[in-house]
Amino acid sequence: MKNYKDLISRNRIPRHVAIIMDGNGRWAKKKSLPRAEGHKRGAEVIEPLMDSAIELGIKAVSLYAFSTENWLRPQTEIFALWRLLEYFFKTRLEKIKGRGIKIRHSGSLDKLPSGTREIIKNAVEETKNNKKAVLNFCLNYGGRQEIVHAVNSWLEKRKPGEPITASKIEKNLYTSGLPGVDLLIRTSGESRISNFLIWQIAYTELVFLDVLWPDFGPSHLYRCIYEYQNRERRYGGI
Ligand code: FPP
Repeated sequence: MKNYKDLISRNRIPRHVAIIMDGNGRWAKKKSLPRAEGHKRGAEVIEPLMDSAIELGIKAVSLYAFSTENWLRPQTEIFALWRLLEYFFKTRLEKIKGRGIKIRHSGSLDKLPSGTREIIKNAVEETKNNKKAVLNFCLNYGGRQEIVHAVNSWLEKRKPGEPITASKIEKNLYTSGLPGVDLLIRTSGESRISNFLIWQIAYTELVFLDVLWPDFGPSHLYRCIYEYQNRERRYGGI
């Protein structure tokens, strides 16, 4: 693979990169391992990813860790994912804090086991003053549900006769305050959005990469950014 890091222009780094971390199950299957091992390896990829993102000056990374549709998976796999998240924060929170990363959460925590919920809330609280970069965990997240949630939040504050606008929806999204999503990456060769950040990606550059998520490393991030920088963004203009 080319050394994409050296080919990247430091002047046009995406501010916010969103990632659909797909292919954990296939990675495990290829190695005759249980699916949970694929998720475990998938979680280990996050730290080097954030290190290289910070080094490049990326301001926010959103990770699709559990969708509202993932409840259809076997209970054992779902529980393994919650345990993995708990382990991730128990073992990495101090490092995350030290690196200036702010943890955010997008989605509804309501249905999560109470222990997992508390660990995530604690990570958000403990890192709330960090400024270097945001790591946004999308958990029990769905794009359509997010828009409905945003509209309902706005309705609670609405003055009689006041119309809804795009900017009012935007302000009530889970991602409110984060930079716009410049680049969305999906691993594993699938070319679908799967209900991820559907409002936010109206003008986002999409990169579909034929690499299983547990194999994703900084070199793949550089390649995706290089691809992003070689696209012309016109936002509907000419
Ligand atoms: C999709 O791959 C991946 C998920 C549904 C879960 C993603 C979760 C992680 C990478 C780990 C999360 C943990 C932390 C600490 C963030 P898949 O299982 O659908 O793969 P497949 O399509 O090959 O079966």
